[in-house]
Amino acid sequence: MTEELKTYAPPPALAATAHVSGMAAYEALCQEAENDHTGYWGRLARELVSWKKPFTKVLNDSEAPFFKWFEDGTLNASYNCLDRNIERGLGDKTALIFEADGGEVTKTTYAELLAKTCQIANGLKSLGVAKGDRVVIYISMSVDGVAAMQACARIGATHSVVFGGFSAQSLRDRIEDTGAKAVITADHQIRGGKQLPLKAIVDEAIGLGGCDTVKNVLVVKRSGAEVAMTAGRDLWMADVVSGQPTTCEPEWVEAEHPLFLLYTSGSTGKPKGVQHSTGGYLLHAALTTKWTFDLRADDIFWCTADIGWVTGHTYIAYGPLALGGTEIVFEGVPTYPDAGRFWKMIQDHKVSIFYTAPTAIRSLIKAAETNDTVHPKHYDLSSLRILGSVGEPINPAAWEWYHHHVGGGRCPIVDTFWQTETGGHMITPLPGATTLVPGSCTLPFPGISAAIVDETGNDVPNGQGGILVVKKPWPSMIRTIWGDPARFKKSYYPSELRGYYLAGDGAIRDAKTGYFTITGRIDDVLNVSGHRMGTMEIESALVSCTELVAEAAVVGRPDDTTGEAICAFVVLKRPRPTGEEAKAIAKQLRDHVGKEIGPIAKPKDIRFGDNLPKTRSGKIMRRLLRAIAKGEAITQDTSTLENPAILDQLSQNN
Ligand code: PRX
Repeated sequence: MTEELKTYAPPPALAATAHVSGMAAYEALCQEAENDHTGYWGRLARELVSWKKPFTKVLNDSEAPFFKWFEDGTLNASYNCLDRNIERGLGDKTALIFEADGGEVTKTTYAELLAKTCQIANGLKSLGVAKGDRVVIYISMSVDGVAAMQACARIGATHSVVFGGFSAQSLRDRIEDTGAKAVITADHQIRGGKQLPLKAIVDEAIGLGGCDTVKNVLVVKRSGAEVAMTAGRDLWMADVVSGQPTTCEPEWVEAEHPLFLLYTSGSTGKPKGVQHSTGGYLLHAALTTKWTFDLRADDIFWCTADIGWVTGHTYIAYGPLALGGTEIVFEGVPTYPDAGRFWKMIQDHKVSIFYTAPTAIRSLIKAAETNDTVHPKHYDLSSLRILGSVGEPINPAAWEWYHHHVGGGRCPIVDTFWQTETGGHMITPLPGATTLVPGSCTLPFPGISAAIVDETGNDVPNGQGGILVVKKPWPSMIRTIWGDPARFKKSYYPSELRGYYLAGDGAIRDAKTGYFTITGRIDDVLNVSGHRMGTMEIESALVSCTELVAEAAVVGRPDDTTGEAICAFVVLKRPRPTGEEAKAIAKQLRDHVGKEIGPIAKPKDIRFGDNLPKTRSGKIMRRLLRAIAKGEAITQDTSTLENPAILDQLSQNN
């Protein structure tokens, strides 16, 4: 961050009425949390969440880092998101505005969403799904998807949503790890005018073995096209819910009861099942929606994430509903029928708060540059008042374009830094308080003790980069890795960091303002289009193509559109291919990775070598591969390299 960068103060009208109004209000909240951390969170938990049995204790840290929040309180997340709003007179208010891929719009009120949720909940109960059971949800963006999540929450079943772009193998791994009793899916998903299978992939996943815990597969009709149904196991959702009562007494669960598991990539091979609580998670979902987006009764909120990712959990399935908001649920893609889709939807639905990823913005900038008709200037975006960004760093050029062309120069952009593990925003501007600096996620959310330290946990001065940590626990933090508490401890609370939460990102604070800028992951995790991918996960997928691949190393390289791109260096079990043959094998390997993990993990570049740069002790020198992937000259020390000639070979071949 340099002094030449522009700054943007909050618009005075917004600042005057915002939930957190002005910097003094922000600072007062931070001070309140600083003076009495548990008192602060306890106050907010009472104000924002309805408890069946009020908690008497805010934090139990006796088994740190396995923290427990509000542990003797009971509640139900679905009660908080649905019934409570209806009791407050919002039954006829629109909860969800669903826009299908083809443009059809369906509005669902709070009363209707509750009825639907209760029917699914009763249907699940009739199949023997009960509190503590796991349910995998493999479905695209839909009212059914949101209702299915709410239905699980209603009966105390723990949901695990798997993004519809994951392959059968990935789905199988998640079903097995969760030990799910039921899978909720649809016949197909429709994206960009194409019909893509979902049910067939569930069948394939279960067919791969290890999914014996699954008693039923519930299938929502989307395409209406024929799909295979296994007798005794597969049921149409319509049949399961038909005749079920539209009311269902919520299962009152303890605050720590696992609301959901969500799998995310780490630096080792296997994705981790991040376990979230009910009480603490819901509090932060509601609180951050309220403060970061300044959500008001008449706002139309649109978070473009998929419910398969954490952003879709916190800022679609839970946060806005917990506050009685109205939100968009969009089935399609930003480029169909053309790259003006987002802008047209903002115009049509009078969206006032819009939350998306830098990758989407960058690709829409490109689209608008090549085809002026999809430029946002052709749409009426005057309903917008707040913009948000999430998932990866937003480069200042994209920030300025977003601010100027989408926000008309009047909407603050909240660049929200957080993670699957954190449950909600950690470092973010508050739109009525924080002066913005493009490219910086600015300051910690009140009560979040984000800091930058060195390898031994000592604070580093502002202006000097280091490791991003959170010093104190917070209510929506990851509770454990499902089935692997030792890995949880090792990954997030390494002993050398004095009990601080290790985010896995590097960061730097501005010397003058103290503003944070995230400098990227410090582990072997890549961020491609805002999707988290482990390099080892992709390497394992490549080497699982045993007939072809002897060895593989994967690194990231910067990419103008996707943030990072996946670059794989592969040694084959046959002589190094060149020309057309190399292209054909690269395609075969890409498809293989697509099948093993999902299309999002397909490497952009695949380079073949006779071997990989290794130290004499056999360790792959990834920093050299990173330089080669970027097309940089190798300036690093290569004296420890076993086979220096390989660098030329890998640099030359593409
Ligand atoms: O590297 C950071 C990046 O995304 C990672 C978290 O990914 P995931 O768990 O998939 O959650 C994404 C949605 C919250 C982080 O470790 N990241 C997320 N938000 C930002 C970011 N990097 C920079 N700026 C952000 N605003």
